[in-house]
Amino acid sequence: MFKLAPSILSADFSELGRQVALIEEGGADLIHVDVMDGHFVPNISFGAAVMKSVKDGTKLNFDVHLMIENPDSYVEDFLTDKTEYITVHQEACRHLHRTVAHIKSLGVKAGVSVNPATPIETLTEILADVDLVLIMSVNPGFGGQKFIDAGIDKVRRLAALREKTGRKFLIEVDGGVNLQNAAALAEAGADILVAGSAVFGAEDVVARTREFKTI
Ligand code: DX5
Ligand code: ZN
Repeated sequence: MFKLAPSILSADFSELGRQVALIEEGGADLIHVDVMDGHFVPNISFGAAVMKSVKDGTKLNFDVHLMIENPDSYVEDFLTDKTEYITVHQEACRHLHRTVAHIKSLGVKAGVSVNPATPIETLTEILADVDLVLIMSVNPGFGGQKFIDAGIDKVRRLAALREKTGRKFLIEVDGGVNLQNAAALAEAGADILVAGSAVFGAEDVVARTREFKTI
């Protein structure tokens, strides 16, 4: 059984609070917050102020995905009593161990993400320190992209490595997740699935969230 973290990047920003209420009603487990800076990825999304604007209207925790350069300078901005995970990109951190330690020192769980072309072997030395590994199954920057099939095997290999080394980190998958590939991803070892357009693109967001949760 996987946890579902709908990405509010694909929500209707003009009524963000209501959209969050819909996924909560449908049984979502986390709110995935996609932060893009126009440098690390070729798109700008929103920052901490937007995230904080929905904080008091929900019981769900935030799963913050920082697709930004120099994340060390911004992690504090995303601290709230509902911030559960802050995830940074391996490709954006020159001193990844320092960044992960910084996040954990703030009392939140630390995640590290890898782009589709980045091997999981680049994380070998940090796996003992992270709470979460986020496998990107699209090139980050935009919602609504097509799932890159190689992501399933990457999840399977990471899950095997976790098993072999006895680590406890969770595996999350982000990008192009839908009702068709969710079961295969969970079977491969994913604990958390992010879905943006597949949830918020539905006519009935509550029903679609429930559909995911019954897989
Ligand atoms: C991609 C983001 C994803 C994205 C997911 O850069 O990190 O979280 O919003 O959207 P879908 O599910 O539409 O691919
Ligand atoms: Zn994301």
